[in-house]
Amino acid sequence: MPEPLALGVLLSGSGTNLQALIDAIAAGTLDARIAVVISNVPDAGGVARARRHGLPTVVLRHGEMPSREAYDARVVETLREHGVDLVVLAGFMRLVTTVLLRAFPARVLNIHPALLPAFPGLHAERQALVHGARITGVTVHFVDEETDHGPILAQAAVPILPDDTEEKLHVRVQRQEHRLYPFAIQLIATGRVRVDGRRVLLRDAACAIDAVLANPTPPAT
Ligand code: GRF
Repeated sequence: MPEPLALGVLLSGSGTNLQALIDAIAAGTLDARIAVVISNVPDAGGVARARRHGLPTVVLRHGEMPSREAYDARVVETLREHGVDLVVLAGFMRLVTTVLLRAFPARVLNIHPALLPAFPGLHAERQALVHGARITGVTVHFVDEETDHGPILAQAAVPILPDDTEEKLHVRVQRQEHRLYPFAIQLIATGRVRVDGRRVLLRDAACAIDAVLANPTPPAT
């Protein structure tokens, strides 16, 4: 049996995506282990969640560091100390620098609550609603030096409904995040992913060629 992929999860918030990874590992659908959880926010819900599950958890406060690069150097050190193979950003509210990206080339993933390249940055669900989009979704992508920009590994679409609020939409987007992130990481864990420039090549990953989400739904023909 190969060693399970060692994940380093970075978060600042409630950590529901961390929970989805914990659950997928427990269910046997993700061949990985969480080697360390790192947070810049000491009282983040995700920190409490990680501790509850007995995961090694490290708080690195950004206020104590002289620069973003110095902060990321501490992050890299901590990831290495815990033998991390893949860095998983899960609601980590900091821009990462080349210090982290060069230490883990094509080994840093992020999840964003929109179909990139639409609606990058903060409040992606709000942006989609304000724009009047009818379909938004979730993107799992490799991280590069630009925000919400690197090669796309997986996406899931979510329709926007007439009575949606940001909160209601967020719930449905997160439901898809919790399915997509463990699945996308499993593609890496099973060696099916190769990054070729902006494109991510997947081996033996299914896609129903007729699958479509239209909003509104046209009548069947
Ligand atoms: C998610 O919506 C993710 O897309 C964004 O940050 C949020 C983190 O949520 N990057 P949680 O802390 O995992 O619940």
